Amino acid sequence: MEVAIEKPLHKIRRFRKQSFEAAQRYPGYDATRDLDDYDDSLPTFKGKTLIQLIAEKSNGEQATSVLDIGCGAGNAILGIAESFPSVDVSGISGTDLRGLLKPPIRTKTQNLDYRIGDIQKTANIFWDKKFDLIVSVYAFIYLGDKPNAIRQCYKLLKPDGIMLIPEALDITQEEADKLQRFWSEMEIETEIGCNPEDKSLGLKYFNIAIKKNPEIEKLPMPFTYNAIPYNGVVLRQYEVKL
Ligand SMILES: C[S@@+](CC[C@H](N)C(=O)[O-])C[C@H]1O[C@@H](n2cnc3c(N)ncnc32)[C@H](O)[C@@H]1O
Repeated sequence: MEVAIEKPLHKIRRFRKQSFEAAQRYPGYDATRDLDDYDDSLPTFKGKTLIQLIAEKSNGEQATSVLDIGCGAGNAILGIAESFPSVDVSGISGTDLRGLLKPPIRTKTQNLDYRIGDIQKTANIFWDKKFDLIVSVYAFIYLGDKPNAIRQCYKLLKPDGIMLIPEALDITQEEADKLQRFWSEMEIETEIGCNPEDKSLGLKYFNIAIKKNPEIEKLPMPFTYNAIPYNGVVLRQYEVKL
């Protein structure tokens, strides 16, 4: 199915730059947030939490890999590496925040692949890897172009890989339902649920979990958006275009 998507390129570039600059300020960031905190904060898929999904995926013959988008100091990826030594663990952060954790993670000896760059270009930054699980906690909230970041994550999933992303979209319940139906008609399994606790900035945030359909390489993202200035940072409010 072909979907028309509005794509004003100059605006997208400006938003990327603004959101990247905004991401350099993280009020109240707790560098000690760990794997158990992630397990509590992330959406589940078919009732399974992140830890259960890693355990399930890493039980098979194939090597398992996990990516944390906006991994901060890296405490959660450290937790995954320690609890599941056979899993290949990666993280991406806008700035190098490793020094905030005492002692800091040691990317060489602890076998953690920590890369620095813009989440909105994750697919380029991890051009050499694909993942069974992709997660993100308190990072999407900073992004100007969330649909683009979701699209990048989907691209990086292995066949049947799953991404769990809270605060992924600023849409209404009705739009979330439409979106879920739209993806399910394409046999892309998703779970979209409202996060009732996060209504800061007057926006509703919908958590999303998506499983990659191996037949569909590029996730259709039927969105338009409105730009809203907030405290000097321009936010986007999305509208599902179906
Ligand atoms: C508040 S910290 C959260 C860290 C960790 N996920 C946690 O929950 O403890 C925000 C993280 O998102 C990253 N981030 C936000 N926007 C980003 C962007 N556009 N590109 C890269 N990283 C970004 C920051 O660099 C940082 O690592």
